[in-house]
Amino acid sequence: MREHLRMTADASHNEQEHAMNFMNVDYSTKIPNNVNLSEDRQVLKALEGWHPGYMDWWSDMGPEGFQQSLVYLRTAYSVDPRGWAKFDYVKMPEYRWGILLAPQEENRVIPFGENFGKPAWQEVPGEHRATLRRLIVIQGDTEPASVEQQRHLGKTAPSLYDLRNLFQVNVEEGRHLWAMVYLLQKYFGRDGREEADDLLRRRSGDADSPRMLGAFNEATPDWLSFFMFTYFTDRDGKMQLHSLAQSGFDPLSRTCRFMLTEEAHHMFVGETGISRVVQRTCEAMKEAGITDPNDVAKVRALGVIDLPTIQKKLHLHYSLSLDLFGSEVSTNAANAFNAGIKGRYKETQIEDDHQLKSATYPVLKLVDGVIKRVDEPALTALNMRLRDDYTQDCVKGMLRWNKIISLAGFHFKLTLPNVAFHRQIGEFRDIHATPEGVLIDDATWNKRKGDWLPSTDDGDFIASLMEPVTEAGQYASWISPPKVGIDNKPGDFEYVKIDT
Ligand SMILES: [Fe+2]
Ligand SMILES: [Fe+2]
Repeated sequence: MREHLRMTADASHNEQEHAMNFMNVDYSTKIPNNVNLSEDRQVLKALEGWHPGYMDWWSDMGPEGFQQSLVYLRTAYSVDPRGWAKFDYVKMPEYRWGILLAPQEENRVIPFGENFGKPAWQEVPGEHRATLRRLIVIQGDTEPASVEQQRHLGKTAPSLYDLRNLFQVNVEEGRHLWAMVYLLQKYFGRDGREEADDLLRRRSGDADSPRMLGAFNEATPDWLSFFMFTYFTDRDGKMQLHSLAQSGFDPLSRTCRFMLTEEAHHMFVGETGISRVVQRTCEAMKEAGITDPNDVAKVRALGVIDLPTIQKKLHLHYSLSLDLFGSEVSTNAANAFNAGIKGRYKETQIEDDHQLKSATYPVLKLVDGVIKRVDEPALTALNMRLRDDYTQDCVKGMLRWNKIISLAGFHFKLTLPNVAFHRQIGEFRDIHATPEGVLIDDATWNKRKGDWLPSTDDGDFIASLMEPVTEAGQYASWISPPKVGIDNKPGDFEYVKIDT
């Protein structure tokens, strides 16, 4: 009887293990993965060869300091949406950066383009090799770039909670780099390996070998910028990942689907970060009896960030992020769609032919000095469409921030600037416009831009507030505590054990 029981237990244990292996990550190789690397010796070797360079990059360009601190981080151990991460104290260099793809969908077909309805590709189709490689490299380049941009922020974190969130975002961007490098090394042979090495060679903001996209070469000088970056720029990442998650190249689709799971937290950090800044400012104004949020000097004297300055930072980060979508009208975007490589946001939920044979899409253009909506073939207007989807997504957080302001009784509304404002790419790159979208000449722009974008003074003021707070449960003067802790931890939880 007892024997029988044990056998049943064993059998069910084996079954469980089998199910776990299907979803779970293999930690037996140096690089945790769910892509069966231990049986893919060539790729495993290539990745192991790349690993030391990655660790060098992390120590040179990853977070400055805190490398020996114990950080309460989540690590992905499965790709099961019901439970994929575990939290524990980890030293950052010992974080297990792994390669995790969402489970393969049986009989998945290409959901758009000329190959609509055909089986998704498990290997790179020869004719699309160059386009695919380019898209993977561009995505891959943004991941380490943001870590580089944020590397100085640890020393001015407003709390251990925020410090931990910064590091969580950083290690996950590192993992996203691994995700793209895996694709390059597994599917693109020698040029893939060269591209993988180049991803560790470029540096954000470097004059000789900068990162590939503009916003990823800008400075992230303070924590308000960090929150704006994670809200607006990581959200561009979300849109790009969504479009690539539709890809007919199945390994890319699966990689991006899992990256999106992690990415959600990055935008949460941004949205709640800005909420907490706004909250604190409103509270301080109320306590001090200030009724005019535009009385910048009075508000700043309270040691909080005035709403007009928050608005300027928002103008900057939103406009920089819009540039990441590329030109409104683009044959590259059309080609990638036709080929089945890069789809639309939520492609499979859109009801149309998924080929855009005759559809049009309204594009904002400059016509005889006036901003007008012009119908363009939907196929070439895909960047514009994705950018519109992005703007809609951005609005949601704004509503929450504005609710905090109005609940506190202030008449002030944070708004997104017009898409013609402060652009370097696309239709509006050669003109100047106000945040309301009124075209202005160079002289007016130069005179007024300090009213709309952060000035040196604004930067200096924010910098003056950036004093680190390292006691558990304590927060800097300019930011409210979060409503809930990470992993439901209590308010005084020590998210980073700095000296260990
Ligand atoms: Fe990322
Ligand atoms: Fe991110």
